[in-house]
Amino acid sequence: MLLQISELHVSYHKKQVIFGISLTVEEGKVVALVGPNGAGKTTTLNTIIGLLHPRKGEILFKGLNITHQKASQNVRNGISLVPQGGRVFPDLSVLENLELGGYLLDPQKRKERLRYVYNLFPILEERYKQRANSLSGGERQMLAISRALMLTPDLLLLDEPSIGLAPLLVKDIMRTLTQISGEMGTSIFVVEQNVREIFQIAQKAYVLKVGKIVLENRYPLELLSDENLRKSYLS
Ligand SMILES: Nc1ncnc2c1ncn2[C@@H]1O[C@H](COP(=O)(O)OP(=O)(O)OP(=O)(O)O)[C@@H](O)[C@H]1O
Ligand SMILES: [Mg+2]
Repeated sequence: MLLQISELHVSYHKKQVIFGISLTVEEGKVVALVGPNGAGKTTTLNTIIGLLHPRKGEILFKGLNITHQKASQNVRNGISLVPQGGRVFPDLSVLENLELGGYLLDPQKRKERLRYVYNLFPILEERYKQRANSLSGGERQMLAISRALMLTPDLLLLDEPSIGLAPLLVKDIMRTLTQISGEMGTSIFVVEQNVREIFQIAQKAYVLKVGKIVLENRYPLELLSDENLRKSYLS
């Protein structure tokens, strides 16, 4: 088991937003976390990477207890986060953004990783000199994902990677996620509101509602065809 979360409770000051959630992400799998706005999805990702710390509960990564670990250390240990909105450095070029993503690497390895992400998203190689703020929304999201991949993470956390993208681009992103997990064996824990798309590629899904896991399913596609489930959990 790559990631194992047990009985996690997270609060912002006095306001509790996560109430004892438990979940697991296996090696090389795509696991989806879905749920309505304000359910606590972003909070969960930020807690895993160490930007927030839980009041109670435990997070194990590769069997090590990282519950109170700093984000910078978690990144070194193999966790990367693509935040909501695919944030990149707007005034830097595509290449500069990628090099920053790989700042911990020696030059040879950095080159190798650049090759890998350019291969994944050829459009980024074409635009390598362009400033990030002049990219389209889709290209910016590709850049954000690529930057997170520069350090060859074991666990890639994605916060709504398809938000605001045209349907064809959404399919592209989904295909790429499948490729990343399939070829590299990278585990992906992805928050999505586009349930229909993410359930096509996820091997497991969790539904979060008001800070609680209300459903766990190993056959996400089945959930899509169940009208009652959809109505009661996903809207
Ligand atoms: N910095 C903060 N301080 C106080 N409350 C916060 C903070 N960030 C989030 N919250 C609250 O925590 C709850 C969960 O927020 P979170 O951003 O995790 O939800 P989400 O599921 O990611 O929603 P969305 O789908 O809109 O992105 C919400 O009620 C939100 O208002
Ligand atoms: Mg969110």
